[in-house]
Amino acid sequence: MATGETPRFLQAIELGVGAWQWGDKVIWNYGRGYAEADIRAAFDVSIGQGVTFIDTAEIYAMGKSERLVGKFIQTTEQPTLVATKYFPFPWRFGRKSVIAALKRSLERLGLDSVALYQVHWPPVMGSIEALMDGMAEAVEMGLTRAVGVSNFNQNQMMTAYSALSRRGLTLGSNQLEYSLLDRRIEKNGLLQRCKELGVRVIAYSPLGQGLLTGKYSAENPPPGLRGRQYGHLLGRIGPLIKLMTEIGQDIGGKAPAQIALNWCLCKGTLPIPGAKTAEQAEMNAGSTGWRLTEEQIAALDEASDKINR
Ligand SMILES: NC(=O)c1ccc[n+]([C@@H]2O[C@H](COP(=O)([O-])OP(=O)(O)OC[C@H]3O[C@@H](n4cnc5c(N)ncnc54)[C@H](OP(=O)(O)O)[C@@H]3O)[C@@H](O)[C@H]2O)c1
Repeated sequence: MATGETPRFLQAIELGVGAWQWGDKVIWNYGRGYAEADIRAAFDVSIGQGVTFIDTAEIYAMGKSERLVGKFIQTTEQPTLVATKYFPFPWRFGRKSVIAALKRSLERLGLDSVALYQVHWPPVMGSIEALMDGMAEAVEMGLTRAVGVSNFNQNQMMTAYSALSRRGLTLGSNQLEYSLLDRRIEKNGLLQRCKELGVRVIAYSPLGQGLLTGKYSAENPPPGLRGRQYGHLLGRIGPLIKLMTEIGQDIGGKAPAQIALNWCLCKGTLPIPGAKTAEQAEMNAGSTGWRLTEEQIAALDEASDKINR
């Protein structure tokens, strides 16, 4: 691939599904309230609705998420696009560790190659350049189609971008937190910079980990760690949820979750909502094929600014 040429298939993907929930007990309580049959159904519905981009990581449920994704994709005829991630543990850095980790991910996934291999977080030890050497080698070996980063700020992303360019490759994506509850990348220029470079922004936690679905409130917080993490926001999201509900009603009965995801699409990002059940996957898939108006987006921006202020 020539320098400056964006891996095109990433630009064409509208929506994906996040698989952190698939097997994770620490944050998502896998095994309590939902189990393999439910996420299997979420997978089937997603694929059936054309949502074939699946985001996982080697650290999700210590490999279990990758194993479940691998199990599910083997039972469908439909081509899927699997993205996974390398975690730059401080004791593991450099080119060779990237290839070794990717091979173990591929084994768990039962695949010969993935669509996208991402560095999960900027490294604390070792250099971004060394990791990008490993990533470039992974492309050359045919183990991944494209290279991405995640949680990289502008400087870190430019370092990765330049290192890949020297190998004749283009950085495909930067996976970042982005939603109506977290618009830091919009305010600090990173989203705009990604667009200029043709780096696809993959929006994680696009539903604010469930808060933007309208089902949680100060009186009814999400269970476990999420309740503690988002406690400060729960008392302030009421007006935004009310506006999302009203806009949804105006456009033929869209749910707040669908408004939240469509807002991400309208901002030029690729949201990857996590889904625990067929019902959630179905609702999330219904966020594509239409667009909010400029006025609706502006109203949502304003309501979101009041929360984040
Ligand atoms: N790169 C990174 O550092 C990073 C960090 C975080 C996430 N991610 C990726 O991004 C994906 C998505 O982010 P996320 O999982 O943090 O948060 P999210 O997508 O904002 O929220 C997902 C949660 O919201 C609830 N939900 C989803 N769809 C719903 C619907 N239609 N109606 C009602 N509730 C619904 C479910 O939880 P409940 O039913 O329990 O409320 C679900 O587990 C992850 O799966 C992962 O692949 C990456």
